[in-house]
Amino acid sequence: AEDDGFQNEPLTDFSLEESRTKMQAALEEVEDQFGKEYPLLINGRAIDTKATITSRNPSHKSDSLGTVSSASADDAIDAIDAARRAFPAWSRTEPQYRAEYLELIAANMRRRRFELAAWIVFECGKPWEEADGDVVEAIDFCMYYANQMRRLAHPLHCDVPGEENVYFYRPRGTVAVIAPWNFPLAILTGMTVASLVTGNTVVMKPAEQSSIVAAKLMDVIHESGIPDGVVNFLPGIGEEVGPELVGSPDVEMITFTGSRDVGLAINETASDTDTRQKMVKRVIAEMGGKNAIIVDDDADLDEAVLGVIHSAFNYAGQKCSACSRVIVLESIHDTFVSRLVEATKALKIGPAEDPGTVVGPVIDEEAHQRILEYIEIGKEEATLALACDTSDLEDEGYYVGPHIFTDVDSTCQIAQEEIFGPVLAVIKADDFDEAITIANDTPYALTAGVFSRSPAHLNKARMEIVAGNIYLNRNITGAMVERHPFGGFKMSGIGSKTGGPDYLLQFLVPVNVTENT
Ligand code: SER
Repeated sequence: AEDDGFQNEPLTDFSLEESRTKMQAALEEVEDQFGKEYPLLINGRAIDTKATITSRNPSHKSDSLGTVSSASADDAIDAIDAARRAFPAWSRTEPQYRAEYLELIAANMRRRRFELAAWIVFECGKPWEEADGDVVEAIDFCMYYANQMRRLAHPLHCDVPGEENVYFYRPRGTVAVIAPWNFPLAILTGMTVASLVTGNTVVMKPAEQSSIVAAKLMDVIHESGIPDGVVNFLPGIGEEVGPELVGSPDVEMITFTGSRDVGLAINETASDTDTRQKMVKRVIAEMGGKNAIIVDDDADLDEAVLGVIHSAFNYAGQKCSACSRVIVLESIHDTFVSRLVEATKALKIGPAEDPGTVVGPVIDEEAHQRILEYIEIGKEEATLALACDTSDLEDEGYYVGPHIFTDVDSTCQIAQEEIFGPVLAVIKADDFDEAITIANDTPYALTAGVFSRSPAHLNKARMEIVAGNIYLNRNITGAMVERHPFGGFKMSGIGSKTGGPDYLLQFLVPVNVTENT
């Protein structure tokens, strides 16, 4: 880490007028592009399908952004076949050469960063700063994995007199990349370029809701000159192409990010061995969370309120890393809650393209419905302490204001199930030990946070909180590549952390060659 030469791409500083002007201009340019059609790309050929996906703007639900071809099961077979045929040549390219491709992709993204961010704003309802963060993280994945591949490209030698040993890595084959809409560029890019740089070939299946951002990524990858068939673009309906991708005897590996239910279903399907299959499939699945922040009785409450709000309500809580439970020590509970409620009321809710928006819409009608149902469940189970009103935006888009529930019992539904929206459950704890027990009492283990001034308590949290990413005295979202390798375990996922030193190993098979000399 210290000397690998990697540096995180700087975020855009939107306090500067120059940056605001660039973003505004990009939003206008992208708006002029609405209504276009985006084909599949298989073996370098654009394919228009009869069925299409209409991409909508969740901030303004009547706005259609364009139409994207929707792949059939047969298209999926063709895409897998193209990737399989491209594999032998690509797998034999020098790792150095593949790393340079990633740097080219990153350079293209840097050049187009405002345009890409603008698409994220419109297609996914992400406010400016977070859309910019999404692009930055995508660039970081390219640069970091390029570096990591250079490191892994050095074979390890262990020679003894009369015997030479060399240990090195080979790619696995064809990877199905199945991505979510909530980090429409970053996560899709991360999973795709990790596959590429390790010498695998890819079928890229984006989430339906973010198909245009994915088409832009395909465009960036294509512009960088990647050979035909190495990355194939397969937008479509998950239920239609997913089983084909996951069940195919020709797909060696599936890398997925999304909900727990889909992740578990993929894991199950992938473990069902087809008679034509010649390997055991490798599944990486980054799934959900029910992430808690503990607020200790000596915490700096100003910091804690800000950290909780940021973690729970930015991007309307639609991050697997988001805080959905805050566990508060009894002696400060009432003070904390009243401050939390007041500060949350001040959050600006509105369309994502408005520069001041903090809480934009949720992704679509289905999400809107699901979150409202959880709010109704919450009203039965606990006390509704705050419901931010969005009735004036109701006809415009899929808005749900921040909701805070208090008197929540740790075992109830809103304290156990991932809602993926701006709904926060406040749970009271008698002491710090009990707070940790409550924090650990879900099937998930993704992120967690603690606000405390007590070194002993912070240390206890370090040792005892069951989560992949533990954050002390700060917000619990926005993991940065290399600095905060990201990912969980238990029901939060299978596999190692994105943006971390072990990630690429999952895409490789180690080989040892022993020569008797
Ligand atoms: N990596 C993101 C975060 O840390 C979540 O996917 O917020």
